[in-house]
Amino acid sequence: MKISVIGTGYVGLVSGACFADVGNTVLCLDVDTRKITMLKDGIIPIHEPGLDNLVQRNAAAGRLLFSSNYDDAVSHADIIFLAVGTPPDEDGSADLTHILSAARSIGERLTKPAVIVDKSTVPVGTAEKVKRAIAGELEKRGVNVAFHVVSNPEFLKEGAAIDDFMKPDRIVVGFDDLEAGKQMRQLYAPFSRNHEKFVEMDIRSAELTKYAANAMLATRISFMNELANLSELLGADIEAVRLGIGMDPRIGPDFLYAGMGYGGSCFPKDVKALIKTASDHKKELHLLTATEKVNEEQKNVLFTKLVRFFGGVSNLNGKTIALWGLSFKPNTDDMREAPSRILVKSLFDAGANVVAYDPVASTEAKRVLVAEHGEDQCNTRLRIVESAKQAVEGADVLVLVTEWKEFRAPDLPFLAENLKLKAVFDGRNIYDPDAFAAAGLVYEGIGRRSGKVEQ
Ligand code: UDX
Repeated sequence: MKISVIGTGYVGLVSGACFADVGNTVLCLDVDTRKITMLKDGIIPIHEPGLDNLVQRNAAAGRLLFSSNYDDAVSHADIIFLAVGTPPDEDGSADLTHILSAARSIGERLTKPAVIVDKSTVPVGTAEKVKRAIAGELEKRGVNVAFHVVSNPEFLKEGAAIDDFMKPDRIVVGFDDLEAGKQMRQLYAPFSRNHEKFVEMDIRSAELTKYAANAMLATRISFMNELANLSELLGADIEAVRLGIGMDPRIGPDFLYAGMGYGGSCFPKDVKALIKTASDHKKELHLLTATEKVNEEQKNVLFTKLVRFFGGVSNLNGKTIALWGLSFKPNTDDMREAPSRILVKSLFDAGANVVAYDPVASTEAKRVLVAEHGEDQCNTRLRIVESAKQAVEGADVLVLVTEWKEFRAPDLPFLAENLKLKAVFDGRNIYDPDAFAAAGLVYEGIGRRSGKVEQ
């Protein structure tokens, strides 16, 4: 089939490359010509395992094309995906500027029947707005072309996006035209043997499904974070509780990890947007409002622990804190809403110095932190180093921020020898508190029992 994908961000690029890989001819469009030039040269602007190979292989086979020209994109395709950003507006609602401008650009050029697919995460009712935007342009041109708008939300996890696309749990498609639905089923057939993964529904339900999934997952995380904080007060261990409840098939073992709060490009934005959508309909979402509040507080949890350990915020002044990991989660260089940003800000405000190491996010982290705190502050207070061990040398304490694989089996004698105050704060509960104690290290996790910090 002939497909165009508008927007070569995370979702657009992964979707485009995966559709090409099963034999479709895909044109990926971005208005950012710099990005398109990079992609044509085989350079992938984001870090996503396996994506560079997939893009290069399909581009070489002539199945994956890149362009900044809407004329090319619209004339190329029978199915056009909208995968542009929907960043949060100041009031939390999703900003539809890019999606509606893309829709108008399509309407200005459409000359043959097409299915337009909303892939971006958009509030309920957006498909209707997209439809109106396209129809408005067709009307201005005085042409009559049959087109249908379909909702097909994505459920890709950064760091595992290709696997998620190639082997989806479900393919949600909302449509109001049978022929358009049939085309979507055909397009997704290679990813859904016997179509058992294909869940078809009306457009509004499909739009809401995406928000419902992310809101449910975010709520699960906030629930576990709140219980972790309670565990500490009660002398219980959240890791034991997690195992104990996760074996109940109604609860399940996944996505039950207490930590530093959820971050990334989806959960924070989508939770806010759903709360806003509800309030636009005079409905308060009590549970989700609490989910968000708990998450905001959880992003400060490690700083609060550090303050306690140092015996007051003023004692952090001039101290050096080593950070392992900066990205919002492993296997990505994405720094959007990363808890590390909140921690770095609090540490800077307290007058502490930060030495950080991240396996892939160093460049992106530097860019983001310099934009947030300025060159001067970063030059004097922040050092981003080349290895985990280098970060620890000369630091007072270590904080594990992102659970990258390479941090999972640390050299404990090295830590004990090099950390001046012999203390490790584990923001992701990946370590065994007893092993740290045996190595002479103070250990504190999130909601863990044997991690009481003793001075
Ligand atoms: C998420 C959804 O999982 C995906 O389906 C959707 O399409 C986009 O948003 P992503 O943001 O890539 O994907 O990351 P995910 O792995 O879901 O993690 C989100 C955040 O939750 C991260 O900050 C992670 O550290 C945190 N998290 C996750 C926890 O704190 N505990 C957990 O148990 C799981």
